[in-house]
Amino acid sequence: MTAIAQAFSRYLPPKVVTNDDLSKLMETSDEWIQKRTGIKERRFVEAPTTTSDLAVEAAKGTLEQLEGKPVDAIIAATLSPDFDFPGIGVLVQTKLGLPEIPAFDIRNQCSGFLYSLELAKALVLQKQYERILVVGAEVHSTGIDLTSRGRDIAVLFGDGAGTCVVSAEEHASSRIPALRLLQSEMHSDGAHASKLWCQHIGSAHFPTRVTQELLDEAKCFPTMEGKKVFEHAVKRMVEVSHSVLAKEGIPASKVRLVVPHQANLRINTMVGDALGVPGDRLFNTIERYGNTTAATIPIGLSHALMEVPLHPEDYILSCAFGSGFTWGATLMQVV
Ligand code: UT7
Repeated sequence: MTAIAQAFSRYLPPKVVTNDDLSKLMETSDEWIQKRTGIKERRFVEAPTTTSDLAVEAAKGTLEQLEGKPVDAIIAATLSPDFDFPGIGVLVQTKLGLPEIPAFDIRNQCSGFLYSLELAKALVLQKQYERILVVGAEVHSTGIDLTSRGRDIAVLFGDGAGTCVVSAEEHASSRIPALRLLQSEMHSDGAHASKLWCQHIGSAHFPTRVTQELLDEAKCFPTMEGKKVFEHAVKRMVEVSHSVLAKEGIPASKVRLVVPHQANLRINTMVGDALGVPGDRLFNTIERYGNTTAATIPIGLSHALMEVPLHPEDYILSCAFGSGFTWGATLMQVV
């Protein structure tokens, strides 16, 4: 028995924010952003839309494809929950009107969706659950410093959500092609935690988590050592991709499509070059959505599975790298 991921769906908030829009808020330019990152525009939520709201809108598109078959667990990945606690899993459960099924929250940032697939696959194969709703959702726009001080990070991120359902089945019933989950590998190295993190607010701060200094000095925003993260991202995504391909015993030339995490178009091009995968077999959405962290891969797959001509047995590879550091790759095959 294999595990499949099916009924991919996405939701992007309607408000489009272009690079020119950002250049009115901070010292940046469309030219700089496109040249360094590939991003042309991204989506931002408007009040009162939250991360769980985006997840729910995407999940509706997934559940509708199941034609009444129930899900019996939720695994939700985000670094930008509606509240410090509880996580978004329980909010998604109640907003969708689902019964009192378990809701797991995953905190692995850009690798969160692949980590969630990993967990979902293990749980359905051991028959603990039958059909797991897997969510990657993010609202960055209210958590970044939209001034010149935060420009190195602020121009990169956007809001959005993607979902699918994982089950232990041979055949899919969803309208959108399903993916068999083959080889996968996840990693972490917390020695690099401070290279990309949101240090405040957290329990490492005394005597209280929120101080006036925190607010005055804008310490509540994420910080990143961009060049170092870039180097590690390329190295690790290539390494882990080679590793899952070797486990399956196939060369990269057999992969029909790579649907990688979307942090920087230059990162993805370098990963493609290192793997020997040409640009027409790399599927990117960063130009229109920026980096939506845990949501980039399900959003990308929901587009790719509808828009790219695919055939049963075609191999699809996803790889991710992000804060933690965490990274991983999952090799899939069109059902
Ligand atoms: O998804 C999680 C993983 N995240 C990533 O993988 C992101 C990895 N890092 C990156 O994508 C790149 O490092 C960035 C896009 C963040 C930055 O690109 P870079 O080529 O590494 O630029 P840099 O940080 O070295 O900055 C170059 C210059 C600096 O000016 P000086 O010191 O040369 O005068 C920056 O101050 O560009 C300046 N700069 C900007 N200029 C205009 C930084 N951000 C901006 C901006 N607009 N938004």
